[in-house]
Amino acid sequence: MSQSAETAELIARAEALVIGAERELAASKTPAELAEVRASLVGKKGAVKDLQRSISRLPKEARRDAGQAVNVIAKRIQAAIDTRRAEVDAATGHVALDPTFDPSWPGTSVPDGSLHPVTLVLEEIRRIFTRLGFDEVSGPEVEDAWHNFDALNIPAHHPARLPSDNFYVEGDRLLRSQTSTVQVRVMETREPPFRVFAPGRVYRPETVDATHLYAFHQVEGLMVGEDVTFADLKACLRTFAESMYGAGVQTRFRPSYFPFTEVSAELDLRCPGCLDRGGDANSALPGAIDCSVCGGERWMEVLGCGMVHPRVLRSVEIDPERYTGFAFGMGVERVAMRRWKLDDIRLLVENDVRFLSQFR
Ligand code: DAH
Repeated sequence: MSQSAETAELIARAEALVIGAERELAASKTPAELAEVRASLVGKKGAVKDLQRSISRLPKEARRDAGQAVNVIAKRIQAAIDTRRAEVDAATGHVALDPTFDPSWPGTSVPDGSLHPVTLVLEEIRRIFTRLGFDEVSGPEVEDAWHNFDALNIPAHHPARLPSDNFYVEGDRLLRSQTSTVQVRVMETREPPFRVFAPGRVYRPETVDATHLYAFHQVEGLMVGEDVTFADLKACLRTFAESMYGAGVQTRFRPSYFPFTEVSAELDLRCPGCLDRGGDANSALPGAIDCSVCGGERWMEVLGCGMVHPRVLRSVEIDPERYTGFAFGMGVERVAMRRWKLDDIRLLVENDVRFLSQFR
């Protein structure tokens, strides 16, 4: 189909417009001149609008081609304007401002993150035990029954191995229920003497409440050598408690039982919830009975400890006649709770920024 005379004329006008536009743009030397030329070209009453209006006066069958031609021209003109504006701005030092930009407004700030309280406590624990000469070690979270139970003197029939008390993965593999597994791994590979600590996550099918989670952190400690005694254990853990909570911290070692230690004890710290109600450690506090942190116990268990059982040493081929050792395992969330007087462990996993942003 041949172009109609009107279409040909319109396209000729458009092409002439581009040539004229390029000349006028080149002649604009200031932002104000450029603004004027721009308005005459692409403004509401500009030449491009004129061309577009002319299209509607063409015969129907010619409109599509003419429309396309005019669009191409309009784009070229806009591009020429943009290029020239950049040149004029550069030459005149003019800074083109977005008219919606208000430089008097404060900037948009990106809030800083903060370290999680469990991370902060872990760092502190690391610092303390490193200073006491312990090496940091780690072990896998998916374990086998040997490292989680057998080598730790927890025999096959022991209730701690029940499926209802553990997250078994397949066969006798499970998500470790304690970091004591790392004791075994270390003793299997190192010759005494050594001192190690092993932070990590552990898993138990607990019902979540103010003091229990089903996944939490422990730090295991182990020291084996000649002449390691319970006095070493006490000195070490007392130093830990004082470094963590200050010299005035109230602690107590309470006789306990663990299959992998003999003797065994638990280290308790005075319950922070009760302490806030006043009174000393042993007084019968009015209202302590309904303390949500300790349930009226007045003390909070922080870790289990003891002298490594000779059977455990034998299971990893360390001679218990020659070597002795102590071990401990602490709950990191509990340490954090005591540190910041939290009355609910769930605060540590809810990821509420109103809580988390307080730890900076
Ligand atoms: N593994 C024990 C638990 O999960 C804690 C523990 C107690 C670790 C005594 C030890 C220890 O190393 O000697 O409750």
